[in-house]
Amino acid sequence: MIIAVDGPAASGKGTLARRIAAHFDIAYLDTGALYRAVARDVVAAGSPVDDVSAAARAAASIDANTLDDPALRTRGTGEAASIVAQFPAVRAALLEFQRKFAGQPRGAVLDGRDIGTIVCPQADAKIYVIAAVEERAKRRWKELNADGSDSTYDSILADLVKRDARDRQRDEAPLKPASDAHLLDTTNLDIEAAFKAAVELIDAATGRAN
Ligand code: CDP
Repeated sequence: MIIAVDGPAASGKGTLARRIAAHFDIAYLDTGALYRAVARDVVAAGSPVDDVSAAARAAASIDANTLDDPALRTRGTGEAASIVAQFPAVRAALLEFQRKFAGQPRGAVLDGRDIGTIVCPQADAKIYVIAAVEERAKRRWKELNADGSDSTYDSILADLVKRDARDRQRDEAPLKPASDAHLLDTTNLDIEAAFKAAVELIDAATGRAN
């Protein structure tokens, strides 16, 4: 079973996708971490983040064992990830890895921006998670500050608005719901309620519902 979870920045996709994967006992891939890792590696190599060939080289040699690096979670890395994510050569290099991951025997849950549209258009269930941008900024502010950042709410809100616009407007695999995705608005849902709603959607989409 393949489950695609897409949506804008800080919409809660990751937490939700992780819970869904545990519930169905299948593997989970945070595809945003791949783009974040490319951005990290470009900067570590001393190249500017908008250097297309440096980004393509980083994507081609990505080490999937480094995806839990805390450095990937910073604001700056999120911003840089959305810059390298615009480059077709970067997306092409990461596509194969993602499809292979999705193709494992028991299936997988993948979260990102283009899972339902490009990476796994054949997914058994597609969820597009949305939430008001002010609520997303509040959640990201809490998350980053718990990790010791002193970023203000306003600066985080501005980051999310800018990053979503870049992700929606790019030519290659833009952020958008697949035509057969189920919208899940979590503005007024806590994680437990969002998880329950997602499982209901998946059960219905895969014919597991009684
Ligand atoms: O956690 P958050 O929602 O802030 O971002 P993320 O999922 O870690 O993704 C970081 C950036 O990677 C996004 O802003 C996108 O530009 C890019 N990305 C993408 O283009 N395609 C994906 N499947 C996943 C992420």
